[in-house]
Amino acid sequence: MRYIKLSLYIMTFSLFLLTGALTLYYGKETFHFEPEESPEAEAATTEQKLHFVLIPEELDNDYWHLVEQGARDAAKFHNVYLEYLGPKQANNDEHLKTIDMVIAGLVDGVITQGVADPEFNTLITKAKEKLIPIVTIDTDAPESDRAAYVGTDNYYSGFLAGKALLNDTKGEQKVAIITGRHEAPHQKLRVQGFKDAVATEKRIEIVAVEESNITEIGAVEAAHQVLQQHPKLTAFYGTSALDGIGIAKVVKSQKAEDDLYIIGFDILPETLQYIEEGTIEATVVQFPYQMGYEAVEKLILLNKGEKLEPLQHTDTKVIHKDDLPISPAAMNGGMQP
Ligand code: BGC
Repeated sequence: MRYIKLSLYIMTFSLFLLTGALTLYYGKETFHFEPEESPEAEAATTEQKLHFVLIPEELDNDYWHLVEQGARDAAKFHNVYLEYLGPKQANNDEHLKTIDMVIAGLVDGVITQGVADPEFNTLITKAKEKLIPIVTIDTDAPESDRAAYVGTDNYYSGFLAGKALLNDTKGEQKVAIITGRHEAPHQKLRVQGFKDAVATEKRIEIVAVEESNITEIGAVEAAHQVLQQHPKLTAFYGTSALDGIGIAKVVKSQKAEDDLYIIGFDILPETLQYIEEGTIEATVVQFPYQMGYEAVEKLILLNKGEKLEPLQHTDTKVIHKDDLPISPAAMNGGMQP
């Protein structure tokens, strides 16, 4: 009898403990909220952080998203607050307005594509006077007061494209160049480098240089027009990331893959697909992820008062089908995203 009583006591007590524990657990799960990051809280934590802004040629462009990704990864790693601001579609006025606005906001550094406009140089000088370091990216503006340039040697990359065309083709060639924007300094350099590389070869004739406005549709239209005007065309050279893709679409739709040689720029997935299937023969590789990453690191050094070599060139080379596939690390210039 005593044993039964004792067991009953123990059971009741255990039940009591269990109910208590369960009440505590579910109470916490139900009423516990993670504190939300309010804008004020965010501002407070970013207050001590360096604040940089990256200004691309246009915001929603696959090439610039790679630059952005590199910059964001570096910013995360170094605990920097990074904003990505700029024109929706390539537009110098909007680009300059964005620079003006962020300088007024007294940020700690700006990474921007170089723009060929006297107003750009004035703004960069203004930034320097306010002790805001500027790093140009992808396109340099060597006459401005920018502290450094991170990106491809654009003249050299164009020269490599010309050499590739010489190596990859035989006999007379009638070449059309589709370039991003006539006014953009890096596009001019890519065209000039190409022209210089083929200049000594009589068999190469450049019959047209047309603009795509850095859009695929622009490249499609330009390629169509060129083919109508020059039915004997044998080669295309596209100097910005979406040009080769636009050209390939037109050439494929006309079933002219076997008659036309195409060399493009950059290694966006679609370009690599066209190389894989043989529509595009070669492309000039750039390392936009690495540019973004390194530009952030350069701005950190500049904020520490360090002096930098003004020209910080990232690598460039030409690849063909034989070089595929490219590992993700190689695409980022040896950096792991
Ligand atoms: C250029 C960028 C340009 C992009 C357009 C790249 O090859 O380096 O300046 O904005 O193409 O898609």
